[in-house]
Amino acid sequence: MLELKNVTISYKDRPTVKNFDLSLGQGKICSIVGESGSGKTTVIRAVLGLLGGGGKVTGGDILFEGRSLLSNTKEEWRKLRGTDISMIFQDSGAMTNQTRVIGKQFVEYICTHEKVSKKEAWERGIEMLERMRLPSGDNIMKSYPFQLSGGMRQRVGIAMAMTFQPKLLLADEPTSALDVTTQAQIVRQMMELRDAYKTSIIMVTHNLGVAAYMADHIVVMKNGKIVDAGDREQILRHSQSEYTKNLLEAVPSLGGVRYV
Ligand SMILES: Nc1ncnc2c1ncn2[C@@H]1O[C@H](COP(=O)(O)OP(=O)(O)OP(=O)(O)O)[C@@H](O)[C@H]1O
Ligand SMILES: [Mg+2]
Repeated sequence: MLELKNVTISYKDRPTVKNFDLSLGQGKICSIVGESGSGKTTVIRAVLGLLGGGGKVTGGDILFEGRSLLSNTKEEWRKLRGTDISMIFQDSGAMTNQTRVIGKQFVEYICTHEKVSKKEAWERGIEMLERMRLPSGDNIMKSYPFQLSGGMRQRVGIAMAMTFQPKLLLADEPTSALDVTTQAQIVRQMMELRDAYKTSIIMVTHNLGVAAYMADHIVVMKNGKIVDAGDREQILRHSQSEYTKNLLEAVPSLGGVRYV
């Protein structure tokens, strides 16, 4: 359903990500791992057509359900983003507006994509929050982001991103700022959502333990290039790459258990 073919992405004519290939099937989870600056965020921002700093796809193609995303007009992006393709960030607290209650932002988000009344949107918001096992959705809708813990804010972010049952969810280090227990819970919930909605997920993480736990497919990046890619078992058990082997040795435990 998503294919990146020999993609090169440049900032101001300097190629940053080179010859990136990826093929993701429906309901599959792919994890992109790699050190800071290796180009992980650049890749998923390119998929969403949201490169900052003058970034551009300068080679190759990105296909979503067989159609190139590179020629999308603004209007086509508006229809796609937040509905068929949605994104969650490292800290949803930073994304949401601190001065407005969650509910107002949630309702606004729903109403920009669908013609429903504010009351219906509010109810839908509560339903999504409760699906993410946030207790008392109504209270959360009335809270300011800073009144919630990091883990709760991240669940709110995921609840919003899942509202329109996206076909593709792009997650940029969604659990990295959280403690390991919360991290493990959120990772499990994301997997449940994948099962329930058959959403395909690209999960960016610098934690190979998270990747090992949830991903069907793992891509390891370094300096803008793929150094290793394959099915989870292949990467974890039979990797030929020294770089991947070193990463594997450095994996911390997730929720008290080592998955690698
Ligand atoms: N807005 C920008 N303007 C110019 N160059 C950028 C911009 N964003 C990223 N880059 C370049 O792309 C490289 C990769 O950055 P990217 O954010 O994709 O890495 P990352 O793997 O997500 O790192 P991290 O783990 O720190 O989030 C950077 O080293 C930088 O040179
Ligand atoms: Mg990043």
